[in-house]
Amino acid sequence: MCVASNQFAIKMIGTKITRYNSLESTNNFVAKQLIDGLYAKGEVVLARFQTEGRGQRGSSWQSLPGDNLTFSFALPSNFLNIHAHFILSKAVSVAIYEMLSASALSDVRIKWPNDILVSDHKICGILLETKVVNSEKHTVVGIGLNVNQVDFDPGYKATSIALQLGRPVDLDSVLKELIGSLNQYLNPVLAGYFDDVEFRYQTALYGAGHWIQFSEEHRSFQGQIKEVDNEGVILVKSKQGQTQSYRAKEVKISY
Ligand code: BTN
Repeated sequence: MCVASNQFAIKMIGTKITRYNSLESTNNFVAKQLIDGLYAKGEVVLARFQTEGRGQRGSSWQSLPGDNLTFSFALPSNFLNIHAHFILSKAVSVAIYEMLSASALSDVRIKWPNDILVSDHKICGILLETKVVNSEKHTVVGIGLNVNQVDFDPGYKATSIALQLGRPVDLDSVLKELIGSLNQYLNPVLAGYFDDVEFRYQTALYGAGHWIQFSEEHRSFQGQIKEVDNEGVILVKSKQGQTQSYRAKEVKISY
């Protein structure tokens, strides 16, 4: 699929990396910079520690200081119509998926809507937030990737690159690889070319081609993913043969 191209495609993500020891939340910081006109295109804002790191659905994002990558950047997203905005989330997920797979991690999957799993344990969370500044839409992309943390709350199925490889890794090398991958998969999308990301996303989806467990507010059921569209809506076939669509707030995938 091709839509109107976007000037941003020629600018690289991460040409400028600004590091902070501690921020409330890198997403909040980038959003404020956009509003104040201080955000440099492509800038990556990274914090060693976030005092109020945020996750999906109003949750918090916990990460031990200095162990992991927690960073954000903004993309101009005016060129995407409201029915296509989820392609940015797909491209970010694919970029993380490909980078981890190339780093010798096995069984990496993208879990709809915004998680990356390794062997059924969460290794990365993504938070995309759209802001309108001076009538222009921008999407703030926040990434929390577990790199060297080895102790996690036992109630939480989490993992890290170090746990998977059995040794600590250099944070800056992981950041460099990840930024390279983000440019590789986001720039074509920003230029209007969706097909490669679309194919890779559907192939890498957790549960693709299998029966998996979904839960709604009052029931859980087995289903098979038929598709995730570019509005972020998931199409699920039930064992009874009906196909139903859900938005991210309406259903959860159990893993
Ligand atoms: C989730 O899985 O719930 C999404 C987690 C997103 C966490 C990242 S860390 C960097 C950025 N700043 C935040 O406050 N959140 C995102």
